[in-house]
Amino acid sequence: MRGAFVVVALLACAARAAGQDSFPDGPGKDITVRVCGACHSASRSAAVRLTRGGWQDVIAKMVSLGAKGSDTELAAVLDYLSANFKGDAPKPVNMNTARAIDLESVAGLLRKESAALIAYRTKHGPCKTLQDLKNIPGVDFRKIERRRDRLVCI
Ligand code: HEC
Repeated sequence: MRGAFVVVALLACAARAAGQDSFPDGPGKDITVRVCGACHSASRSAAVRLTRGGWQDVIAKMVSLGAKGSDTELAAVLDYLSANFKGDAPKPVNMNTARAIDLESVAGLLRKESAALIAYRTKHGPCKTLQDLKNIPGVDFRKIERRRDRLVCI
């Protein structure tokens, strides 16, 4: 029985490594990886798809948190992210810190599901990938999967 658990754990690790987002080549790639990879993995942050305005807000938020780059570098980061990770969402939601209202409006959870998710993360700590949220009792993971282009674990 224990062997089966080890195999499952190993498979989960392999899937995680293989599933890492790669950054398409293009102008601004190197600077984006450098500026946005300083605190959390750059690929993790770029798993979301946002409007240009959404990326602008994220970059401003990251600068307020301590991200460093000249105006020219940050402009290149904005161009790169808006060109390669473009979507309809105006903002991403970090599942580790999101308020209930955002879990409901952006992730599409019911009020009782967002309460269950918040109770779970309080007890078990932060998620590293969305897959970590798969087995939370009382949360329909399919909803999270459906909105994966606007949700992150950072
Ligand atoms: C100085 C450290 C630092 C750097 C550099 C940094 N981040 Fe972050 N980032 C954070 C922290 C801390 C959080 C979690 C904030 C929270 O959840 O309130 C975060 C969260 C995020 C989120 C989750 C959404 C959100 O609004 O909470 C995204 C997306 C993100 N970062 C993208 C980026 C991008 C793109 C860059 C490059 C421009 C970047 N980060 C550079 C520290 C950093």
